[in-house]
Amino acid sequence: MEAASHDAPEAITTYNPFQGNRLGLDASRVTVASVAERAVHVEFADGSVTSFHHQWLRHCCYCAECGNPADGIRFNTVISFGSDIAPSVATATDGDLCVTWPDGHESIYGPDWLQHHAYDSTARRQRAGWRPTTWRSELADHFPTVSWADATDGGAGQLEAFQKLRDYGIVQIADIGVDPVATEQLANLVGPIHETTVYGRIYDVKAEPVAKLGAKTGMPQAPHIDDAFYYSPPGIDVFHCLVNTDEGGMSTYVDGFAIAESLAADEPGAYHLLTTLPISQIRRHPGEIDLRNRGPLISLDEFGRPQGIRYFDRALAPLDVDAELMDAFYDAVREYNRRMIDPAFLAEIRVAPGNGMLIDNHRVMHGRTGFDPSFGRHIRLCHVPRDEFHGRLRELSRELDPQHHDVYLPQGARS
Ligand SMILES: [Fe+2]
Ligand SMILES: [Zn+2]
Repeated sequence: MEAASHDAPEAITTYNPFQGNRLGLDASRVTVASVAERAVHVEFADGSVTSFHHQWLRHCCYCAECGNPADGIRFNTVISFGSDIAPSVATATDGDLCVTWPDGHESIYGPDWLQHHAYDSTARRQRAGWRPTTWRSELADHFPTVSWADATDGGAGQLEAFQKLRDYGIVQIADIGVDPVATEQLANLVGPIHETTVYGRIYDVKAEPVAKLGAKTGMPQAPHIDDAFYYSPPGIDVFHCLVNTDEGGMSTYVDGFAIAESLAADEPGAYHLLTTLPISQIRRHPGEIDLRNRGPLISLDEFGRPQGIRYFDRALAPLDVDAELMDAFYDAVREYNRRMIDPAFLAEIRVAPGNGMLIDNHRVMHGRTGFDPSFGRHIRLCHVPRDEFHGRLRELSRELDPQHHDVYLPQGARS
């Protein structure tokens, strides 16, 4: 028998594939570099000019000695240098920016990496340039759809499905088939299943004689965000239709970002309250769990743009805001709700058996019209975290569309 051997600590090495300040993208070369008082000025061959603060450059050295945040094998931190750090010399060498620090340490930054991380106002605007494609009822006429065969090709078809989900907040995946096993395969296209107490791992939406949730009846369901009462509500809803009815049972979808847009334009007072005051949403299953969240109905990002919607009217707890604001707040929530059920905002389609739907649950609300429960309508449902989806989207577009792989995406509803 072979004795267990333990490597001595000095024998442990790290494998760091992310070293270096380079992305491997085409970029115009650095032609001029000069050290100014607080920053290094850099000019590129295409005539663009920008500056990088000294301490920013020192912090962002990703050489073997300093490490790279991408894999966390990183030794250089913000306390490794003082605010007065300044290069001894900075040069444009072979198209790169080369900086030598007073202790002799050398840093080399590729032009692609510099342009990608520049933080002048033009560069920052560009990086924040992604916008959702907002929609209303007309989406039903050209519903974003990708076939299962294309969506699982690991290439351009999959990227198309991912981009539709990113841009519209919803994509239909067609011709998956009605094998229940495919539900998990559909989920795994965007990430691992997120299990919750309310839904478990995969939830069968079927009418039942004694229904614990509204979903398990034949009653119509007003559009809603699933589980809005979680601090971090489910990210991507994964629906897989096994059996539908011929009458009723239509799926309804509403773009929460389109409602936000319309409120900002027509009802700025209501919009202000909905983006700043918290609503409480609750769900209790006695003896099992008591879930609560307080947060704005519309969350805004650092640029003041909607980044997440959180609204499930049936789970709305007694409002708890300043008494002075109570009436105005009710009016504001009502304005949102009115639009949510307005046919002008509602895209209604019949989902065929064998088709599935991926929905950004922090943006697009889903519901259904009523149906006769004896028809045996059967939808399978599970959830995948949004981070997992966005993470896979970035990695796939890094390969297929590298110039656009790293844009700011909405990070979802705040708690
Ligand atoms: Fe739902
Ligand atoms: Zn370094």
